[in-house]
Amino acid sequence: MSRRAIVTVATLKGGSGKSTLASCLAVHWRLNGRDPVLVDADPQRTLARLAERPQALGGVPVIEDSSADVVTTARRLGKAHSPVVIDTAGFRAPATLAALAEAGLVVVPVKASPLDVDVMIDTARTLFSTVDGGVPRFRCVMMQTTRDSVIARHIRSELTEAGFPLLESELVNRIIYGEAALFGATPSMIEPRGAAAREIAALADEIEALLAPAKETR
Ligand SMILES: Nc1ncnc2c1ncn2[C@@H]1O[C@H](COP(=O)(O)OP(=O)(O)O)[C@@H](O)[C@H]1O
Ligand SMILES: [Mg+2]
Repeated sequence: MSRRAIVTVATLKGGSGKSTLASCLAVHWRLNGRDPVLVDADPQRTLARLAERPQALGGVPVIEDSSADVVTTARRLGKAHSPVVIDTAGFRAPATLAALAEAGLVVVPVKASPLDVDVMIDTARTLFSTVDGGVPRFRCVMMQTTRDSVIARHIRSELTEAGFPLLESELVNRIIYGEAALFGATPSMIEPRGAAAREIAALADEIEALLAPAKETR
């Protein structure tokens, strides 16, 4: 399988929205006729636990592997599924480094909090600099934003100045994420025409465009 079909969600900043992002993307793709798989490389098992709840992430399979062999697992799964979305732990782990090195695209959730962005930039630089094969191709995604807020605008410019590329779409702060998670669902499942589902769809489209073989842009 081409490594392009592997999307790794990573940041060492805890509570940024990694698991939310990974699950929302995978479920969106499944609802849109793709056959994604989630790899839970976080020993805290957030995705595995979601999959045990009644709505079971809409049937997206969740495979747990938080070992350094996660890449072997991802490649194997990639023979039957696409995309392969890997959720990583919030700490430096061999599994995280391996998943970063293997990814066609790394997606870095950035919480729209002025207290988080500096830490995120510092830790991402350190983490990415130790990845085999060099800094992976990555894009940041703003999470839990308030539309048109001064904070989000400021963080966007801080990231750009730090040389961190950002996707246009952002996942606005909405209650529905938590409500959906209670049942092992995502907003796309419980309110497919709602604002959150539309934001997830726009984000997923941006990511898919970056994964497409024709686009060689870094
Ligand atoms: N756009 C959003 N709106 C509201 N809550 C969100 C949003 N994105 C993430 N969250 C919440 O933030 C918390 C942390 O998210 P999570 O995905 O578990 O982060 P991580 O995996 O990075 O630790 C969760 O309670 C999740 O529901
Ligand atoms: Mg998580």
